[in-house]
Amino acid sequence: MSFSGKLRLGVNIDHVATVRNARGGAFPDPLRAARIAQEAGADGITAHLREDRRHISDADIEGLVDVLTVPLNFEMAATDEMQKIALRHKPHAVCIVPEKREERTTEGGLEVAREENRLAHFIAPLRDAGCRVSIFIAADHRQIEAAHRIGAQVIELHTGAYCDAHAEGDFETRDSELAALREMSAFAYSLGLEVHAGHGLTYDTVSPVAALPEVMELNIGHFLIGESIFLGLSPAIAEMRRLMDDARSG
Ligand code: PXP
Repeated sequence: MSFSGKLRLGVNIDHVATVRNARGGAFPDPLRAARIAQEAGADGITAHLREDRRHISDADIEGLVDVLTVPLNFEMAATDEMQKIALRHKPHAVCIVPEKREERTTEGGLEVAREENRLAHFIAPLRDAGCRVSIFIAADHRQIEAAHRIGAQVIELHTGAYCDAHAEGDFETRDSELAALREMSAFAYSLGLEVHAGHGLTYDTVSPVAALPEVMELNIGHFLIGESIFLGLSPAIAEMRRLMDDARSG
């Protein structure tokens, strides 16, 4: 594996579906958002089919599999139901995330170390089906080693704590969270894992993460969909792309 110059941007379209579902019906259409995101320079589309279907629906996933020309990153909990759906569609990538019904968003990383055996068995058929398996985890040695041992090809580092500390003005915590992301992305890379990152990233927080040389992909959703209310989806994505590219080359 070698450092790739271009950092990939995965656009998460979950919250287009959140707005649609607030009224029922068909608008705004997440598939249309995915098409526009592709044209605006997204290198992949990410969608999380939650157990409670609060945003993305089964039909959305079917539609994405049909229309996308860029890779689909299918986020899912490690349940039998989701494994069956993933094996039916065989998306380019599957990202295993923790899921709690009462949470508003994916609050923490997956506890891989505690569930190593079960997760190793869970991801084996997904890998055999040709999906790249990614595990969403905190920037933590133990979790990274466990993700490596179970046979994941990719880890996605949770940037939520870094972004939250920035938003709260707690710059000491923000900087120590960033240092952990820096150290742990290098550590994961040294094990041969491909490193992605995401959660909570905004125009204000993306650059230091984009500058981490081992990080090959950022997955960004909520902020971009919100910003598109003001700017439109294409310009919102283009600005994120510009900040990522500047940070990478700077
Ligand atoms: N990566 C993963 C694994 C996620 O679960 C999410 C949220 O669904 C994101 C990235 C994107 O986070 P946000 O919507 O806050 O940009």
